[in-house]
Amino acid sequence: MARYLMCPPTYFTVSYEINPWMDTSVPVDQAKAVAEWERLRDVHRDLGHTVELIDPLPGLPDMVYAANGATVVDGVAYEAKFSHVERAAEGPAYLARLAELGFHPHEAAETNEGEGDLLLVGDLLLAGTGLRTSREAHAEASAVLGREAVTLELVDPRFYHLDTALMVLKGLDGGPEVDVAYLPGAFSGPSQERLRDLFPDALLATEEDAAVLGLNAVSDGEHIVMSARAPRLAGALEERGYTPVPVDLPELLLGGGGAKCCTLVLRG
Ligand code: ARG
Repeated sequence: MARYLMCPPTYFTVSYEINPWMDTSVPVDQAKAVAEWERLRDVHRDLGHTVELIDPLPGLPDMVYAANGATVVDGVAYEAKFSHVERAAEGPAYLARLAELGFHPHEAAETNEGEGDLLLVGDLLLAGTGLRTSREAHAEASAVLGREAVTLELVDPRFYHLDTALMVLKGLDGGPEVDVAYLPGAFSGPSQERLRDLFPDALLATEEDAAVLGLNAVSDGEHIVMSARAPRLAGALEERGYTPVPVDLPELLLGGGGAKCCTLVLRG
């Protein structure tokens, strides 16, 4: 069973624009966001997983996207260092909470947005860059977390974090069996080639799947907690032997995040 960290969207709103999904002229229904988030938390718990919480801080509306708060592997929490000043205070807040939970905190020198761009699959750390996390952070994360990092270059601003363009289906606990789904067009040519080499049997997603953040999903190796708005992708996952568990998060999508963004995986 997995262990996650989540942050209630108490102060969630869209008061700045740092990705193409965010539009400050579209009002956010805060109560609806809370209800969506509570449903997501309950879905994780009903699947038998443990959900730890962090207190939300006023003035940090994106703190609900817990996956960006750190990267946690083998009991080590590698701090996030955000590329936008609006989110800068989240890194230390998440690191302090993770230390409280017993993880070994490791401060970051390089710009990285946690599990938004650093995804463990088997013994590899898939590492996104191009829009947020720096290449230097890939080397730092690799050294801190003791895993080889594979740099993948993101080229489409709509898919600004690796976890919006690629989902780990199997192996996110570090286990030897690996499986992923991704949108090839979100990556540069050389990175597409690298992905083909690493995962020749990967499930390839379509633009339509990714355009509703269908790839921003949480897998426990069996169940895939994912957007209710990506039926084609859900069908393809089912055919592959997985059980999609749909959740609808339209308010949280206004900030540019889905189920995975709201769920940080705690390993070790
Ligand atoms: N508004 C947030 C940002 O642009 C959304 C983060 C979504 N998180 C994720 N893991 N992709 O930074």
